[in-house]
Amino acid sequence: MPADTVTLAQISDVHLGPLPPIPLQLLNLKRITGFLNWHRKRRFMHRTATANLLAADVVAQQPTHIAVTGDLANIGLPSEIERAAVWMQRLGSPDIVSVIPGNHDIYSTIDGRNVGIAALSTWQPYMTPNAEGARYGDPSTPFPFVRVVRQGTMAVALIGLNSAVETPPLIAIGRLGDAQLKALAGILDATRSDQLVRVVMLHHPPFPGGAGPRHELTDAAALADLLDRHGAELVIHGHNHKRSISYRDGAHGRIPVVGISSASIAKPTPHGDDLARAHFFSFASGGRDAPARITLVARGWAETGGPIVELERRLL
Ligand SMILES: [Fe+2]
Ligand SMILES: [Fe+2]
Repeated sequence: MPADTVTLAQISDVHLGPLPPIPLQLLNLKRITGFLNWHRKRRFMHRTATANLLAADVVAQQPTHIAVTGDLANIGLPSEIERAAVWMQRLGSPDIVSVIPGNHDIYSTIDGRNVGIAALSTWQPYMTPNAEGARYGDPSTPFPFVRVVRQGTMAVALIGLNSAVETPPLIAIGRLGDAQLKALAGILDATRSDQLVRVVMLHHPPFPGGAGPRHELTDAAALADLLDRHGAELVIHGHNHKRSISYRDGAHGRIPVVGISSASIAKPTPHGDDLARAHFFSFASGGRDAPARITLVARGWAETGGPIVELERRLL
């Protein structure tokens, strides 16, 4: 990899199995629905062995940093969160691996209470700002957090959002909330004036219609408007279990928005999910006063049972 290139790898929606038993005090309608859904359908779709192979391939590519964009768990059990924290160690230490929650991680009440991000205390080392990123965030709120990733003269600000909230049965919506959106606007302005390449990551698709009505980000319109006004060089997300690329015309230039498939799906599903893949975004200087050049390389399965291969390579 050239000396002045940052490579950010992304995997998402790992949905680690098998499902542990549900402690009696955590049993509710949401988890019963999720439990049945896992045993009837999802356990045949999501294979942890597939995610393990993909994770090993990601590490072998030696990216500068790895982003995991949520849904490591299935029904938000504390034991699943714990297991996911252990699983992430195979990607690397928390200083080179960042994670944000998905709707299956912050899933339902614990002991009858909404605890939100507090349920993910074992993930904390992967969700904190690094030394250089700390100057951009508000230390009193965990999200957005910023990590500045450098390689030679290239510097990328990775901005992590939390779109996961506890939801009722059969609902997988997300919400950022006004405080997080306001903080994001300030971070985008500050990192832009410091000439960092701004990468925003969140679990849910960041624009209206990006997911179905019971699965969408409820304040997607506000986020999309904010991104258009304050700009970003790249937005990455998970949640749909599909690869997608679209562009927004922001006030400061075109913003690529890239979605990714689940890291654990090894064969076709009734929902048309894409097979597991990882994305590798390379950021290189575009030349004097020109925007950074961002190349996307995807690696994963082209066919069930095949090897991990390069699936696509394109300039964003
Ligand atoms: Fe998911
Ligand atoms: Fe999701």
